[in-house]
Amino acid sequence: MCGIVGYVGPKSTVDVLIGGLRRLEYRGYDSAGVSIISPLGGLETRKKAGKLANLEASITEHQLPISHIGIGHTRWATHGAPTDGNAHPHLGGEHQKLSLIHNGIIENFAELKAELVAYGTKFASETDSEVAAHLIAREFDASGDLPTAFATVVNRLHGAFTILVIHEDQPDVVLAARRNAPLVIGLGDGENFLGSDVAAFVEHTKRAISVGQDEIVILRADSVEVRTFDGKPVVSEEFTVDWDASAASKGGWSSFMAKEIADQPQAVADTLMGRIDSDGLVTLEEIDGLDEAAIRSLERIIIVACGTASYAGDIAKYAIEKWARVPVQVELSHEFRYRDPILTRNTLIVAISQSGETMDTLMATRFAKDKGARVLAICNTQGATLARESDAVIYTHAGPEVAVASTKALTAQMTAGYLLALFLAQVRQTLPAIQLSAFGKELLKMPARVTRVLDNLDDVRALGREMSNAKSVLFLGRNVGFPVAMEGALKLKELAYIHAEGFAAGELKHGPIALIEEGQPVIVLVPSPRDAETLQPKVISNIQEIRARGAKVIAIAEEGDTAVSDYAEHVIYIPQSASMFAPILSVIPLQVFALELSTAKGLDVDQPRNLAKSVTVE
Ligand code: M6R
Repeated sequence: MCGIVGYVGPKSTVDVLIGGLRRLEYRGYDSAGVSIISPLGGLETRKKAGKLANLEASITEHQLPISHIGIGHTRWATHGAPTDGNAHPHLGGEHQKLSLIHNGIIENFAELKAELVAYGTKFASETDSEVAAHLIAREFDASGDLPTAFATVVNRLHGAFTILVIHEDQPDVVLAARRNAPLVIGLGDGENFLGSDVAAFVEHTKRAISVGQDEIVILRADSVEVRTFDGKPVVSEEFTVDWDASAASKGGWSSFMAKEIADQPQAVADTLMGRIDSDGLVTLEEIDGLDEAAIRSLERIIIVACGTASYAGDIAKYAIEKWARVPVQVELSHEFRYRDPILTRNTLIVAISQSGETMDTLMATRFAKDKGARVLAICNTQGATLARESDAVIYTHAGPEVAVASTKALTAQMTAGYLLALFLAQVRQTLPAIQLSAFGKELLKMPARVTRVLDNLDDVRALGREMSNAKSVLFLGRNVGFPVAMEGALKLKELAYIHAEGFAAGELKHGPIALIEEGQPVIVLVPSPRDAETLQPKVISNIQEIRARGAKVIAIAEEGDTAVSDYAEHVIYIPQSASMFAPILSVIPLQVFALELSTAKGLDVDQPRNLAKSVTVE
């Protein structure tokens, strides 16, 4: 949560900061602010509660002076309400010459605040962050050495933080520190950048360095120095950002979410690219870190993830267990870590995360590594902390996902899950070669099928608009349709703020059927009737049971399943595919349904209330 940007160089700093914040606003949008140092007037700060547009309006009305150094912040509130006063930057020191922005939570802030209050420090906000501003200013006043003062204070902080600081008396340097929250450096020519992720600066440079845990950055226009918290120099590896700034812009779509839904054929195709050969066999060079002997001796896989990514994990579980015959359990990252799970060297942790910065997932993987397990990440963000800290990474290549609601990252994660399942089955020889090859070849057909789904969604759009007054929508699925039902419900909750639940269709009769009353909308994922192992007739029975009690049924069914239309008010057809791959197709109407319903209610689909894209607090 919270987006952070820093700049030093010849460009107009306000423009660079506002441009960066615009691209980082998905990380939090409770308030926004900037501080710059003007060569003539010293430190100037402007901050406003609400979305970035409020700050932009204020700057348009009262221009900030020309400057070549500054920091900017977009907030997702933790300590203190989203007011102007609690917005970042926070100023420190008696003469307020230091400005600080922070992403994360300083867990020992109360103790540090008490210390400052005893010295007579006055606080302007209710945030934990302001404590760090005053402490650094005090240390600097005492020592006269800003990097040393900064290092002294960050070493005293507990919790999660990325902190950026500028000081009026040192107008050529931005200092940054990172512990348990993301920070990336952008390397320019005579200019340098800092950001929560590369989106902050990708329109200016594609050369980047991911800052490691407990590292400090001393950033000037012509130099970048990285040190550990205890002062040792760090040699950092540079990487090249593999997407353009245009990939993170709406490009004529009404919302980022609409664009990202439409990006899905490409996201799936790019995630498959180079990973399935002409014989249909999977090559995953990225997971060389996990040698074949280790894969053969795997006793268990535990998938850790949160939210939508956890549903990708649920689908991967079906595929891995069926094809590679390894027991898989899927755990919400925040529950996994605190229940003392049993882990051995032959347990593989698969951590799934779009951002690679979700704190719950990072903490779960660190815990597992400490216990001796190996970690494989499925991640969409280059240089993310999760990718850095894992033994191996399968990158999804969905491109930047800006809308808070995850769409293309999910279908890319499902794709990566299938690739992993097939790869494990290949190495462990648990599927005949002919089947492996058939599945691999079929996976390559999925991008075209996703396009066909996207081309036939008018009915779903109309339904979304018609149902904008619904008080509650239920989703039912079975087998791989169950996680899709959960995802459909999550999308509706987060985008349209209406009650929605996803159930395993077989579980209905054990309780949830009591929710069914006259007119209750229920969206049902119907398995393929072509697959002897799936459960289409049982799901049809479930539909009959709820219709008998008044439910209004919308079925998502496979083309050719004409029988379903007798049992549902509406049927949305998706192309035929192997049952295991159906979620990549069936989830799309649910995304579009939530998008339309939310839009019809006049809500902000890209930035739903109370949420942030990347949840970097536990
Ligand atoms: O970045 P991650 O994939 O780790 O994020 C996990 C969840 O926070 C995320 O999927 C969340 O549930 C989305 N807002 C759902 O649309």
